[in-house]
Amino acid sequence: MIISKLDDLYKDSIIKRLWFYDETDSTNTRAKEYVYKLNNTDGKEADLPGLFLSEVQTAGRGRMGRPWKSPAGTGIWMSYLIRPALDPDRIPGITILTSLAVADSINEYASDHSITMPEIKIKWPNDIIAGSRKICGILTELVAPDFVINGIGINVNTEDFPDELKDKATSLKLAGSTLWDREELIILVIKRLNSLIREYEHETSLEFVREKYNNLLVSINKEVVISHDTKNIVRISRGIDHTGALLVEAPDGSISAVSSGEVSVRGIYGYV
Ligand code: BTN
Repeated sequence: MIISKLDDLYKDSIIKRLWFYDETDSTNTRAKEYVYKLNNTDGKEADLPGLFLSEVQTAGRGRMGRPWKSPAGTGIWMSYLIRPALDPDRIPGITILTSLAVADSINEYASDHSITMPEIKIKWPNDIIAGSRKICGILTELVAPDFVINGIGINVNTEDFPDELKDKATSLKLAGSTLWDREELIILVIKRLNSLIREYEHETSLEFVREKYNNLLVSINKEVVISHDTKNIVRISRGIDHTGALLVEAPDGSISAVSSGEVSVRGIYGYV
């Protein structure tokens, strides 16, 4: 990674500091460690927003305690640490904005470089998929009192996946049959995410992105299986509401909102 190519991000204070590691366990963990340090100094020394980046993660973390494969030099493994001016109940909305920022940035890059590839879609709440395979995962973590770590993992130029991931994961390189410039994509994603978050701070809900998000939603108007503890229920996905919860329709036509749990979509990894 050529770090000087990211200098553009210092403009308009989109980032105030960059932490770059040739290797670390997890950029989310590094960001968390920094927050603990800030909390010991009453946040006085905050260099925020901050970006933590690593060429390799030796213990990348995914949602639900799953590991996240982060091989050397081929991916974007980063955590954007912010302290947004938002009430705590609106923080989960940042996950929705992060997936939107990533999906839009991939589309913008592909269009700028005339890359043809399968449609980029979002699997609620925060997976980005190309065709039916996952290309990016997002792990948003809240650290008291009001710090948010946006962990973003994008399979960029990965050529090979371990057997257990082959059917579920892909990369931008495999999807678009060309190498992607990681630094250029990082800049697009972080700029877009920053501006979406600024906008969200001035809005009262996610209404301003709802239609756009729902247009990218892979499950829209399709059958989904919602897994909660040991129960599975089948519903029709009707897109997110203004809080970011997924609206689902029962056979009797009643609509309810799902705000957590696993949601699988037929034909997309995990539910066939
Ligand atoms: C998921 O799909 O379950 C979320 C994956 C999130 C991976 C990213 S890579 C950068 C950051 N550091 C981590 O340890 N995890 C996130």
